[in-house]
Amino acid sequence: MTTSREDIYRTFVAIELPRELRARIIEHTTELRRAFPDVRASWVREQNLHLTLKFLGDVSIPDIPKLSAAVDAATRSIKSFELIVSGCGAFPTHGQPKVLWVGTQAAGLLDLRSSLERECERLGFAREERSFHPHLTIARLRSTNGARSLARLHIERGFDSYPVKVTEASVIRSELLSEGSRYTTLDRHRLVTS
Ligand code: 2AM
Repeated sequence: MTTSREDIYRTFVAIELPRELRARIIEHTTELRRAFPDVRASWVREQNLHLTLKFLGDVSIPDIPKLSAAVDAATRSIKSFELIVSGCGAFPTHGQPKVLWVGTQAAGLLDLRSSLERECERLGFAREERSFHPHLTIARLRSTNGARSLARLHIERGFDSYPVKVTEASVIRSELLSEGSRYTTLDRHRLVTS
């Protein structure tokens, strides 16, 4: 049986970011937008900035509690950790840039991601085939004109290290609306705090 659109949520699991960090990222993007007003791009709005741990795509609504259970099991065995947000880059690394991102480093992140993959697979969700490149997407570039110069400025400006204490992972619903993506946090799962 095919699942109708009303029966599914497009979902992903992510780390939500503190307000002050999101505000700093918006200062950075505001500067880039002022410098390159003619480059067509979809800039991620402040409330939508996040770090994706696992993208599930379409999940049938009756399966959402199972997804939450998997995320709960995954987070229960991982200690809270510090994430350092710093540096800037673009995807792809060579050629026409399509995505601008701010970087992240944390040893605990890979453990959390592996734990999520394991528990999600155990409960019947597909493993992510792509390798994990943790990043905070700040813009998706729509035009080629000026894109390289914009990406160059973004990388040159950089982003000063900002530490984030990661204490939970969130299951988030994404709706692709004409006015942009709308994210709704369905539930949050706490990591082990010492
Ligand atoms: P991105 O930031 O690299 O674009 C919500 O759309 C989140 O899920 C975004 O952070 C996005 O990653 C990620 N995402 C969207 N589509 C995806 C896909 N097909 N595969 C992996 N991640 C995806």
